[in-house]
Amino acid sequence: MIRRPPGPKPRFLIGNLPLAGGDPLSVFLKWAQEFGDIFYYRAVWLRVYFLNHPDLIESVLVRNPANFQKDRVIRNSRWFFGEGLLTSEGDFWLRQRRLSQPAFHRERVASYAAIMTSYAEEMLANWQDGEVRDIHAEMMNLTLRIVVRTLFNVESEQTAHVSSALNALMRNASGARMLIPPIGRYLPTPSMIEVRRGVRHLEETVYGIIERRRADQRDAGDLLSMLIQVRDEDGSRMSDKQLRDEVLTFLLAGHETTAIALSWTWHLLAQHPEAEAKLHTEIDSVLAGGAPAFSDIQRLPYTEAVIKESMRLYPPAWSLARTVRSDFEIRGYRIPAGANLVMSQWIMHRDPRYFDQPEKFVPERWLNGGSAKLPRFAYFPFGGGPRQCIGAAFAQMEAAMVVATIAQQFGLRAVPDHPVIPIPSFTLRPKHGIKMILCKGDRMPAASSETELTAVRPAI
Ligand code: HEM
Repeated sequence: MIRRPPGPKPRFLIGNLPLAGGDPLSVFLKWAQEFGDIFYYRAVWLRVYFLNHPDLIESVLVRNPANFQKDRVIRNSRWFFGEGLLTSEGDFWLRQRRLSQPAFHRERVASYAAIMTSYAEEMLANWQDGEVRDIHAEMMNLTLRIVVRTLFNVESEQTAHVSSALNALMRNASGARMLIPPIGRYLPTPSMIEVRRGVRHLEETVYGIIERRRADQRDAGDLLSMLIQVRDEDGSRMSDKQLRDEVLTFLLAGHETTAIALSWTWHLLAQHPEAEAKLHTEIDSVLAGGAPAFSDIQRLPYTEAVIKESMRLYPPAWSLARTVRSDFEIRGYRIPAGANLVMSQWIMHRDPRYFDQPEKFVPERWLNGGSAKLPRFAYFPFGGGPRQCIGAAFAQMEAAMVVATIAQQFGLRAVPDHPVIPIPSFTLRPKHGIKMILCKGDRMPAASSETELTAVRPAI
């Protein structure tokens, strides 16, 4: 007999999001508090089970990953990503993962540090004291340029092409539109026409990069060269279409999440002057005005803690979802094939069983081995198991390099009355961007140990 976990009354859903609430992040948190480690709800034909305990999440992602495939939302995005690393499954995925892995080895990632800081410095050269900018847009642009240069060795002129094609697409294709089921994609609405045009433009740019690299036959030692040179057991190479899928996947997966992590970090720092002052003190004393290098990261523990804490409160990937292949049992409940499982960083990272005063921004909780006591899946911004983010080390280094470079020159202040609202789309984006005032050389007064850090209220 199927025994169902407790849960709220049926809701209408889009993807895994309940529409009825209008405020899905708070609704999910409330349900987790009310119903505990596992809850269930049904919306028309969709059965959704939320797993809200580290052991339950581990049992899906690590102990038995073969019984779960990426959920429908990800499957719906195949029209755009094709069979890239994020969306593919089975042996094909494994082959591509092994192939891409060398581009993310420690030494290789370390070699990207100089590019990251020099692109951040280039961006700062255009920043004026007192100017207001959308920091989310700035971070998106920066991380895109970094990923294009590091993984595909594309010179700046072509990077500008990729960037403008992608920006045009993003303007018209919010996360949600990238995920629409097949029928909606062919509707002749003005925005869908724009989206399709944007995809075509981006594809032309990407095919151009592939063609040029094939033609000059140079081994640039980057991800693109690795993908182009690899041969199947039968001696065949990857087709242009396969290459396109991987390049687009890395372009998107490799910049948006890091940009979001950086954006929320600046937002939180602006609200927490003591933390900002400590960050500046550490960076100034360790780097003494020089550009950060890979070897500096271990000497910047507070900077790392700030980034970790920011990804706890605003995890760029706010949930992971899987579809069940065959019926299985968990905590005495039988979960049927076809059901959707959701494991949410937003919920777990705010769980008071693992995080004292979970709504507060307290980077110190990560210092002095503070995270060693946590169960593996109490904090999992990069997922886990075989499908764990391939770019985790890349992203962590990039975030540290960019924060250290910017903080040496600017302080970023919130623009009063600008609404900063996280929306749980594909990623946890700020709905209206994050407008901030750029203050050159601005330093917050030194931290006072008596000052309480103010609580971060997610503006949802
Ligand atoms: C703060 C930044 C980042 C966050 C929070 C993040 C988060 C994640 C998460 C949670 C997953 C697992 C998805 C799942 O299990 O369903 C994932 C997968 C992936 N990420 Fe990231 N990511 C970040 C940066 C990057 C970067 C910099 C790259 C590449 C340069 C990248 C490339 C990928 C790829 C290709 C996958 C699919 C891996 C596979 O299935 O084998 N990510 N990411």
